[in-house]
Parts: sequence; structure tokens; C-alpha cells
Amino acid sequence: MTESISSGKFITVEGIDGCGKTTQAEFIIETLVDLGKSAKIVREPGGDPISESIRKLLLHAEEAMSDRAEALLMIASRAQLTDKIVLPQIINGAWVVADRYADSTLAYQGGGRGLSVKSLNEINEFGTYTLKPDLTFFIDISVDVANSRMRVERDRIEKEGNDFQQRVRDQYMKLHESEPERVILINGEQSVEEVRAEIWNHIKEKFNL
Ligand code: TYD
Repeated sequence: MTESISSGKFITVEGIDGCGKTTQAEFIIETLVDLGKSAKIVREPGGDPISESIRKLLLHAEEAMSDRAEALLMIASRAQLTDKIVLPQIINGAWVVADRYADSTLAYQGGGRGLSVKSLNEINEFGTYTLKPDLTFFIDISVDVANSRMRVERDRIEKEGNDFQQRVRDQYMKLHESEPERVILINGEQSVEEVRAEIWNHIKEKFNL
């Protein structure tokens, strides 16, 4: 979709908690800006005042949240971010790098919570205004490595435990297998520099930079 409306590009970075995606998303932006591109980073859930309010509810709610309410709030936050920030930037020809996007809902609420991936795909399509990333990096690490890297203070979803994180990882792997051209698998257990170089090589090749 993005290619047909403008020269703006949309890249997303995904993986289980602790995989290092935020650092890599920031590297991508820095490198694009160094090349003279207009580039913006966004994070999910969040990235806009309304989406940030939804994020607080999602990550710090005290009461038990139903799995479907969680999924719909993730997608509501995404709809707001897409309409107010991502699409306007892309239409203007800018690059947008998202620290998590629609695949997170398939992995966490589909794989992790066990909701229907098919239903989530449909609701995601509505919530994203059918926008699809041009390229997605799935930075893969084992659950053990993730645990060794994660900070002590964990949010509601990070507290779900090892089996949950493993199901999330497995679902990401399935997404990579079903769309290998878009969802690029990166070994996140390499050094930060190696991960950075591998990601940048893919971006250079895909977009002829
Ligand atoms: P994230 O911002 O990556 O965490 P951190 O602030 O620690 O870097 O994501 C917050 C949590 O939300 C994370 O555990 C993954 C979860 N999440 C979902 O479950 N579904 C979604 O659709 C999204 C975007 C995030």
C-alpha cells in the first residue's frame, strides 16, 4: 500500500521482551537521518497522547483484563497511532520505524494468549487502515537469554512467565515462515553491532540505498 501512495517507507521491529528491538529501531532511525532521510520512530502500544493513555491501562491495570479486551485495546492504540502519525508521515514521504506493530498482537494475543490469529488478523486490518510494513525485523532470542537481560521491574505482560514468552516466540517464528520476504529473522543473540549490521544490510538491499 505505501508504495502506491508515496515514497515513504514503513519498517517495524519485533520480538519477545528483552530482544533489543528498541536499541535497533533507534539505530535504524539514526542511520536514515545520517543519509538525509526524514525519519520518525514510534513505539507501541503508545506513540500519541491517546495511545499512551491506552498503554498505561494495558501495562499497569490492577484488575484482571480479559484477553479480548487486551487485544482490542492494543489495536485501538494502533488505530490512533496509524491515523494520527504513521499514515500522515508516510504520505508525506517520510520513513517510519515502529518499535512493535500489528505482528505483536498476533504474537502476544494470538500465540501468548491463545486467541484466534485469523480473527486478530481481521481486526488488525481494520485497526491499521490496511497498512502493512514494507519490512519487519523479528529479532529472535531464547527465553533464557531474554530473562537474563530483562530489568527487575516488569509490566503486566512481562510478568506472564516463560511458557507465555515461548508461545510468543513460536508465533513470531510462524509469521516469519509464512511471510519470509517481509518478516526477516535476525539472530538477536549476536552482539548489538552484528545485529545492527545485519539489519542495515537488509534495508540497503530492499530499498536500494
Ligand atoms: P514494549 O514497549 O516492547 O515493552 P518495553 O516498554 O518494556 O520496551 O511492549 C510492552 C508490552 O506490550 C510487551 O510486553 C509486549 C506487549 N504487547 C502486546 O502484548 N501486544 C501488542 O500488540 C503490543 C504492541 C505489545
